[in-house]
Amino acid sequence: MDVFVALFTLYLLSSAVTAADDFSVALNRRREQPTAGLCANVIQRFGFPCSEHTAPTKDGYILGLQRVASASGKSFGPPVLLIHGLFMAGDAWFMDSPNQSLGFILANRGFDVWVGNVRGTRWSHGHVSIPEKDKKFWDWSWQELALYDLGEMIHYVYSITNSKLFVVGHSQGTIMSLAAFTQPDIVKMVEAAALLCPISYLEHITAPFVLRLVKMHLDEAILDMGIHELNLKSNWGTRIMDMMCDGQLDCDDLLASITGKNCCFNSSRIASYLEFEPHPTSSKNLHHLFQMIRKGTFSLYDYGIWKNLMQYNQLKPPVFDLSSIPNSLPIWMGYGGNDALADVADVQHTLKELKSKPNVLYLENYGHLDFLVSTKSKEDVYDSMVSFFISLGETFSSY
Ligand SMILES: *[C@@H]1O[C@H](CO)[C@@H](O)[C@H](O)[C@H]1NC(C)=O
Ligand SMILES: *[C@@H]1O[C@H](CO)[C@@H](O)[C@H](O)[C@H]1NC(C)=O
Repeated sequence: MDVFVALFTLYLLSSAVTAADDFSVALNRRREQPTAGLCANVIQRFGFPCSEHTAPTKDGYILGLQRVASASGKSFGPPVLLIHGLFMAGDAWFMDSPNQSLGFILANRGFDVWVGNVRGTRWSHGHVSIPEKDKKFWDWSWQELALYDLGEMIHYVYSITNSKLFVVGHSQGTIMSLAAFTQPDIVKMVEAAALLCPISYLEHITAPFVLRLVKMHLDEAILDMGIHELNLKSNWGTRIMDMMCDGQLDCDDLLASITGKNCCFNSSRIASYLEFEPHPTSSKNLHHLFQMIRKGTFSLYDYGIWKNLMQYNQLKPPVFDLSSIPNSLPIWMGYGGNDALADVADVQHTLKELKSKPNVLYLENYGHLDFLVSTKSKEDVYDSMVSFFISLGETFSSY
């Protein structure tokens, strides 16, 4: 049984003697929940005005959001909501200098920047009644992140600004966006969307490390072991990461074997990225993502036929129908030829099913992380995205 292989591997990993190196030191630095929020920890340090907001979801999670204005304090442009990827949170948009990071660039271009943080990340604030230690707290996957978390964030920004908003997603943030945009009550609040490394189908991913975990059924093994929170900064998570990084793979290679070869990634910044990354997610979420890889579907969580019958009244989970995203929603997409997660074939599949013809930017040498942290992402990616938003006829009183 593959599950036993996976369990045995996990056992070996967790009992491996670990040697300290820069990587584990950096990873360990932020075990605990930081006391101050993302504004104080990151954004204000660069001189940008920033305020903390909270929004409760229908199912009781208290999400953290940040609102960022330009360094000059002026922000008159339309609202834009940034939604991060898996194992990340809102800090993902502020990891490099103000000249390089999308969050700062948008604020300086006069956008009213809102930063989303999904449930379970360090910048969100738990649940109204369920403690984080409780396994029920982690009983969700990206479908709840799409329908509840993203739905609520969009609604929150819409109701405060009284304006339709732009949505920018990266990776899992695009899975969430595409799923949410199939819902008429959510998409009606969205002006346009920009999707970096767009994912709906995961059938063709090539990342060797991920495929290995899928093959050994790591997702099912950790659920069977009663691990519901997937926190790579926890004791066992750190040990696994250390092992991988000290062993045959160095961390550059590990990243490449997860994300694809990043052309323009500055590896001397890894330790600084790891101050906050990776953020926790749920094991159930990993399982849902692995289901997509195994089955090639873009659908709700698969509980198995009996529980599907109870949950959905059908044997298979319902699919998210990309063709129900309104043709009138302008979409911009940036994707890369070296992206091992958002594979070109899967992006083509997504494009084929959408009714609209998105504006696409294809960068042959870009990997999955380049779209966030390439040293040239402003020139290569963000300038084109911002031009797209501006071309939609929004007026900017500050620029
Ligand atoms: C950012 O860009 C401006 C002008 O383009 C330049 O003057 C400044 O030195 C840059 N700052 C950093 C931190 O690179
Ligand atoms: C790479 O990161 C290091 C450390 O932060 C920095 O000193 C260097 O200027 C960066 N290089 C580029 C090309 O951004």
